[in-house]
Amino acid sequence: MTLIHSTEQLAIWRSSILDQTIAFVPTMGALHEGHIALIKRAAEQCDIVVVSVFVNALQFGDSSDFDRYPRSIESDHELSSAAGASIVFAPTTVEMFPPNFDNYVTPSPIAEQFEGASRPGHFAGVVTVVNRLFDLVQPHTAIFGAKDYQQVAVIRDMARALHPSLRILCSETIRDSDGLALSSRNSRLSPLARAKAVVIPNALFALRSAFNAGQLDCATLVQVARNILDTEQELAVEYLVVVDSQTLKCHVDVVAKDSIVLFAGIIDGVRLIDNIELKLFA
Ligand code: PAJ
Repeated sequence: MTLIHSTEQLAIWRSSILDQTIAFVPTMGALHEGHIALIKRAAEQCDIVVVSVFVNALQFGDSSDFDRYPRSIESDHELSSAAGASIVFAPTTVEMFPPNFDNYVTPSPIAEQFEGASRPGHFAGVVTVVNRLFDLVQPHTAIFGAKDYQQVAVIRDMARALHPSLRILCSETIRDSDGLALSSRNSRLSPLARAKAVVIPNALFALRSAFNAGQLDCATLVQVARNILDTEQELAVEYLVVVDSQTLKCHVDVVAKDSIVLFAGIIDGVRLIDNIELKLFA
C-alpha cells in the first residue's frame, strides 16, 4: 500500500503499470462506510484500486465550509488499505493546480439545476478536479456514489466527452441503521439534529412505498414525502422533486419512466442531500 503525494511520483507509478486494470475512487477524505463500499466494489472490478483524497477548494462556494471540512489522512490511508486499495493519492493543492494550470472544464447543462443552482460553480469545480484526476490516474473504471446522484450524471457527461474509453460506475447509497445516508457532513449535526434528520429517509421511503403501491402522480408522491418532512420544524426543505433518472428533467404530472427523487434541505445549519430511485418495472 503506497501513499503518494506528488503528481511526478504518481506518473512514475502509473507508467510501471502495463497490463493490469485500474479502478479509481475519487474522494475528499474523512472516509466512512459509504466510501469504503466504493473501494470494495472497485476491488471487485479491476486488478488495482487507486483512491484519491483531495479536499477540492474549487468546488466549495464558501471558504469557511472548505476550512471546516474534516481531514484525516492517516485513518483514510489505513481504511483504504483495509478495503483493498493499493494506492492512496493525496496531492497538495499546488500539485493538483500548479500556477500555470488552465484546464478548467465546463459542466454539461445537467449541472444547472438543483445542486448547481444552489451552489454556483460547484459542478465546474467538481468536473475540473475529476478531469485532472482522470488525466493523472488514467483509470479503466471510476466509481462514484449514488448518494450524489446529480454529480454522477455530470461526471458521466464530462467523461463521455473527455475520457470516452473510461467506464463510470455508480454504487448504491450506504445508510446508517436508521436510514440516514452516510455523509461527512453528518458529523456536524448536534445529537438532537441528527435524531431529527431521520425524517429525510423516512419521507423518501414513504414516497417510494406509495409509488410501489401504484401511485404515479408526481404531486401526490411529493405530498406524501412533504407530510413527513413537515413534521420536523427545524428542517428547511430546499428542493424535493421527481425527475427522469437520465435527463434529470422534472416530470410534468405522472411518473412515466424510471425516475429519481432528489432532496436537499438544511437542518441545524447543515445542508444534507439524499435521493431515492423509483423503478417502474422493479
Ligand atoms: P466525497 O464527498 O468524499 O465523496 C466521494 C465519493 O463517495 C463520491 O462518489 C460520493 O458520492 C460517495 N459517497 C459519499 N457518501 C456516500 C454514501 N453514503 N454511500 C455511497 N457513496 C457515497 O463527492 C466527492 O467527494 C467530490 O465531489 C469528488 C467526486 C471527490 C470530487 O472532488
